[in-house]
Amino acid sequence: MCARAKNKGLVWTAVLIQCAGAVWAQSPGADAINAAKIAAVCANCHGDNGISPYPHIPNLAGQNPRYLLTQMNHFASGQRRNEFMEGMIRALKPRERESLARFYAEQTVPPRSPASPALLAQGKDYYEKVCFRCHGADGRGTEDYARLAGQQTGYVQRTLTRYRDPANMVRKNPLMIEATAQLTDAQIQALAAYVASMP
Ligand code: HEC
Ligand code: HEC
Repeated sequence: MCARAKNKGLVWTAVLIQCAGAVWAQSPGADAINAAKIAAVCANCHGDNGISPYPHIPNLAGQNPRYLLTQMNHFASGQRRNEFMEGMIRALKPRERESLARFYAEQTVPPRSPASPALLAQGKDYYEKVCFRCHGADGRGTEDYARLAGQQTGYVQRTLTRYRDPANMVRKNPLMIEATAQLTDAQIQALAAYVASMP
């Protein structure tokens, strides 16, 4: 059973890809794509309805559809590096990527449980100086800029560190490299806690 594939590592990856293949093979055609069915495979990591149960895996729920599609295409082209996601998204047709982006954008995401008030205040302070310009005062982003509100703390922290230290080549975006260049680890921690707490 696909839903029961809980083994870790390569075996798990292989099972997931097999399951994904089975789901896609059942699709009667491009016009009858059932995004929710494909999403059952994604749910193994991104959670039911795109609300991730893992701190280092992003929520997809409530994310801007164009941002989601852009990131899927970045995985497919290798511009954004993650071995598993690259293979996963390459196996999806463009129409399937689009319908998945729409599906996830329509899901709602609950805010995380709040961190300490001092940490949140520090994060808010920095957010309102720099980040709001692109991601919006409410953290909901725009068509092109990611929604940050309610995002997983561990994922945001790791992602900001990656932009700041671009030598790791996981994500390359000049705007984010610039926005994070001056951040200390403590500021990154505070920012991650703050955006996760945004409704
Ligand atoms: C084996 C676990 C796993 C599965 C299954 C999986 N993902 Fe992912 N996905 C990840 C991880 C881990 C990341 C974060 C990569 C990083 O750190 O940059 C990610 C990132 C993403 C992102 C980028 C989100 C953002 O905020 O930038 C999108 C979009 C995405 N996945 C879509 C999907 C879709 C659609 C599916 C199903 C077809 C899927 N994923 C299945 C593990 C998974
Ligand atoms: C000049 C515009 C701009 C500013 C200012 C900016 N960002 Fe971004 N941000 C972007 C863009 C564009 C992306 C998508 C980049 C990509 O494709 O990797 C992004 C992506 C992100 C992501 C990844 C989201 C995801 O789901 O993977 C995080 C986290 C983030 N920004 C946080 C911040 C924080 C925190 C600040 C303030 C320190 C900030 N950004 C300031 C434009 C901006």
